[in-house]
Amino acid sequence: MTALPQPADFRLHHRMRVRWSELDMQGVVFNGHYLNFFDVAVGEWWRDMALPYASGMARMGGEFFVRKATVDYLASAQMDDLLDICVRTGRLGNSSMVIDGALFVAGRLIATAELLYVFADVRTKVPARIPDAFRAMLERHAQGGAMTEVTTGSWAELEADAAPLRRTVFVDEQGVPEHEEWDAADAHCLHAVARNGLGQAVATGRLLPAEHGVAKLGRMAVLKPLRGLGLGEQVLQALEAAARARGDTAVLLSAQVGAQGFYARAGYQPEGEPYDEVGIPHVHMRKRL
Ligand SMILES: CC(C)(COP(=O)(O)OP(=O)(O)OC[C@H]1O[C@@H](n2cnc3c(N)ncnc32)[C@H](O)[C@@H]1OP(=O)(O)O)[C@@H](O)C(=O)NCCC(=O)NCCS
Repeated sequence: MTALPQPADFRLHHRMRVRWSELDMQGVVFNGHYLNFFDVAVGEWWRDMALPYASGMARMGGEFFVRKATVDYLASAQMDDLLDICVRTGRLGNSSMVIDGALFVAGRLIATAELLYVFADVRTKVPARIPDAFRAMLERHAQGGAMTEVTTGSWAELEADAAPLRRTVFVDEQGVPEHEEWDAADAHCLHAVARNGLGQAVATGRLLPAEHGVAKLGRMAVLKPLRGLGLGEQVLQALEAAARARGDTAVLLSAQVGAQGFYARAGYQPEGEPYDEVGIPHVHMRKRL
């Protein structure tokens, strides 16, 4: 008999509380909801691998389709329970991937799942071999490894990655006019780009040349589906390390007020009153290195 899964067997834990609408006539969570719970966790698992689902699948040239889903119900989840929903890679075939799931409440196993996905061409639905780069990502995730790598370099080296990402975040998402986004400073900055295991650029930022030992940092952007995962912090740390290494004594930046908390957590202090820049409220912030 195989041992029952334990919470510590999983890297991905998604926690959510049972909602009123999920209870059935017996006062327990309706069985049909469990597949949904596991699916939510799978979505978080892609994110945890720094994989923006739509563009990631497009890059791989296919998508994962569910072929078979099995849930084994061992106990009942009830109102107010905090569900700890876990998923990880199970068996990997040529085109198939089994995702093993387990749902715990306060460490007690409530249900397990086996979700069989097949990687296939979106249009023809013909199965295809799961790309090696994706297999490597699964392996690294399972082993607790880093899912992104940050590279620093010149605009000539990183423009091809940084520019489309900045356009997506600042121009398309935030409505910054193109002519405001691109300036001559890019050519003189040190840029940083975080890439995922498929080589997709997922976060970026830039460091201007220092004036009297004070560096200016800006254009920090993380792909929307991957925010809150520590990627912005990784880029910030890489640029701060570069500033420190060249002897800068402080970093100055113009923070969007909505991102002020992000910089405050990293040790930046606000200076002066908020002001408007490209129609977005900003505030000056500074950190001593
Ligand atoms: C701002 C931005 C770069 C932050 O990157 P991120 O990858 O989402 O942030 P991280 O996951 O690295 O967060 C690091 C810490 O800051 C916190 N944080 C992130 N964004 C925050 C915000 N807007 N307000 C308060 N705290 C925030 C996180 O909770 C985390 O804290 P923790 O370590 O205590 O858990 C990103 O959200 C982004 O690209 N936003 C859109 C573009 C933008 O506003 N750019 C900034 C222009 S100045």
